[in-house]
Amino acid sequence: MPELAAGAAVLTAAAAAVGVDAGTPAPLPHAQIHPRIAKKFGQPVSFMSAGTLPRSPRIHEPERTFRGRSSGGNIERVSSNEALIRFKSVKKAFGQKVIYSGLDLEIKAGESLTIIGGSGVGKSVMLKMLIGLLKVDSGSITFHDEDITKMRREELGLVRQRIGMLFQGSALFDSISVGANVAYGLHEHFYKKMNDAEIAERVHWALSLVGLPGIEEMRPADLSGGMKKRVGLARAIAIQPEVILFDEPTTGLDPINTTRINHLITGLKKSLNITTINVTHDMSSAYYISDRLAMVHRGRIIAQGTPDELKAITDPRVADFIHGRAPVNEDVATLLGA
Ligand SMILES: Nc1ncnc2c1ncn2[C@@H]1O[C@H](COP(=O)(O)OP(=O)(O)O)[C@@H](O)[C@H]1O
Ligand SMILES: [Mg+2]
Repeated sequence: MPELAAGAAVLTAAAAAVGVDAGTPAPLPHAQIHPRIAKKFGQPVSFMSAGTLPRSPRIHEPERTFRGRSSGGNIERVSSNEALIRFKSVKKAFGQKVIYSGLDLEIKAGESLTIIGGSGVGKSVMLKMLIGLLKVDSGSITFHDEDITKMRREELGLVRQRIGMLFQGSALFDSISVGANVAYGLHEHFYKKMNDAEIAERVHWALSLVGLPGIEEMRPADLSGGMKKRVGLARAIAIQPEVILFDEPTTGLDPINTTRINHLITGLKKSLNITTINVTHDMSSAYYISDRLAMVHRGRIIAQGTPDELKAITDPRVADFIHGRAPVNEDVATLLGA
């Protein structure tokens, strides 16, 4: 089976790219961040190269710590048992359509949490609220205990340096090269703070991490779906975030590319110690990449836990979803209203 053998070879190459020899990225331009923002948030966490960083221990080990925001020049050690991100009583509607009637969810530093739920329940809306692309109607969303819902534009800009997002459908700009796409966030966030050589070096580093070194000059139109996702991923990691949001990273991909992306997600998390929030419809991907899952249903989280805990839940709204069964009481009216 040549395809499978080729797929395995690429996977090995991708895994190797995640683990080794991606070079050391240029340090973040800490000193040039606006002093008021730096005072509020501290400097961005420095990002270590995949090549030099030891594999992180399992996230559930209680002694594991995470480098959180600094205060007064000292880096606080935020325990992995504390919430890094906290949605509290969040309400959100579009006109009459209520998306969230009371969203409560905590994400710990270093964990990989997957949001599951039917189409249109508000999974993408949740991620967009987290980075301030959509405003909440009420409630709070904190990142390092700072309320994102109360922030002004420049403060949100800093949050978006620290929380990268791989948008649903990759959202690459077709009219510019792959390299320019990956550099996009660097220009946006580090304008005048990184020179062209530093940006080129960072772009090369990010593309190497996703197993696609040297494709800077290609156009998105020349790439396969799987490669586009990986370039989207390179764009998200180029800014060296603490958290990455993956909105349906494997939707529309064939099984080999799905496996490849899942390996990259778990490899990046282990190598770079990144907290990830994922959205996926694909339960086998969800079980593979997640420490915990949370299910959204009618405006709330109705279940959350480890893969094994979720599998043990008997509530039919959860069990039907995770086992891919249509609910027994689903009728035409329900389907039309969905
Ligand atoms: N900017 C917007 N304006 C109006 N309605 C929106 C907007 N974004 C999302 N919605 C609606 O909110 C609901 C949830 O959307 P979304 O979060 O994208 O669903 P999913 O769970 O599939 O990711 C959908 O009904 C969608 O049409
Ligand atoms: Mg969505």
